[in-house]
Amino acid sequence: MAGALGLHVITTQLPVAFISATKQTFRRASVIRCAANTPNKRYTIAVLPGDGVGNEVIPVAVDALRLAGSLEGLDLRFEELLIGGVALELVGVPLPEETLRKAKQSDAVLLGAVGWHVLIIVDFFFFFDKQPKWDNSPKHLKPITALLQLRAGLEVFSNLRPITVFPQLVDSTYLRKDTAEGVDIMIIRELTGGIYNAHPRGFTTNEQGDEVGFCTESYSASEVNHIARVAFDIAKQRRSKLCSVDKATILEGSMLWRKRVTAMALEYPEVEVSHLLIDTAAMDLVRYPRQFDTILTGVMFGDILSDLAAMIPGSVGLLPSAASDRLQGPGIFEPVHGSAPKHYGKDTVNPLAAVLSAAMLFRYGLKEENAAQRIEKAVSDVLDRGFRTRDIHTPGATLVGCKRMGEEILRSLDARVSVSNGSLV
Ligand code: IPM
Ligand code: MG
Repeated sequence: MAGALGLHVITTQLPVAFISATKQTFRRASVIRCAANTPNKRYTIAVLPGDGVGNEVIPVAVDALRLAGSLEGLDLRFEELLIGGVALELVGVPLPEETLRKAKQSDAVLLGAVGWHVLIIVDFFFFFDKQPKWDNSPKHLKPITALLQLRAGLEVFSNLRPITVFPQLVDSTYLRKDTAEGVDIMIIRELTGGIYNAHPRGFTTNEQGDEVGFCTESYSASEVNHIARVAFDIAKQRRSKLCSVDKATILEGSMLWRKRVTAMALEYPEVEVSHLLIDTAAMDLVRYPRQFDTILTGVMFGDILSDLAAMIPGSVGLLPSAASDRLQGPGIFEPVHGSAPKHYGKDTVNPLAAVLSAAMLFRYGLKEENAAQRIEKAVSDVLDRGFRTRDIHTPGATLVGCKRMGEEILRSLDARVSVSNGSLV
């Protein structure tokens, strides 16, 4: 593609992208109205915009955090750090030691995306070519490795991925409207074990001389107990329905998984527990998603189910996530959508997944429920006022880009400055 159009310059997005996230954050923050209250609590947030559209959505989320925080009397300090392709380019590794160290010292980590592609400038237009620069690099030198290293380094074993259909967006669903209406699911995905982190794994040659790639899934009883406990506790605070998803007919790890979840259910008589095989769960998520409240599953099934479930609200640009160790240490809060290089630089992506991740950061990371609710109400308010990015646009709504959506979020936050009885007015 690039060749046919006459390639003039090949460059990297790196200095531009990395600097821009910081600059945008601080430049835009200066026009935000200031704190309603005198700050009384201080938090340090490690900000890792990473690659691609991470650099567009994270400044929006930072602005929302700062304003909602200031309205709650919170003093948030942001420290921007390198991760992913941009880190590989600048310092030669996807997760610099400094990033992990400072992330560990922070109160919460706000992450954009990793997985960067080469930016090509053709005749003054910007294109992303599908030539991932690190495709042929060894695994430890791929951007995506940073994500796994960060999750392992912060020991964030539980991944919360809410799937919510906002009433204002019911027309954006890929399902039938009456199927999607009212869906409110929390997927709880195990994050630091299972097949992603399997041993043994690697490449070999079998007796026939055939090349073999292998990766062995395993789950220990304590790993399953750990994540199941999180899921039961969350289900209890929701509609007390927990569906555990596995492949216990075939996989040993799943057999143990089911055994442990069944045993733990005895400790939670108030929670209604069901078990589904992954294939049936995928079908049922499309057929009748309202049957689900809390879904508990492993790292790979959770990865697949959460992308599948994104089509219920209608866009992966609406899906936030939180990864945490509920006992200690900072969590990682990130939009599920990834670096989306094709969309980068066009100001068209949806920042709501990042903004809703900021709400999760307040709720689960800092335990600042009021600030979390402020952000969620602002999102709902912006949707009420009819603003939509391209991915969720329907006739009659106002089509806006990423930056404008961010400005409208701030406007909505600004308009709702008082809190009574824990809910916003
Ligand atoms: C996600 C992503 C990651 C995962 C990749 C990028 C490693 O797909 O967070 O859903 O599979 O965990
Ligand atoms: Mg995924």
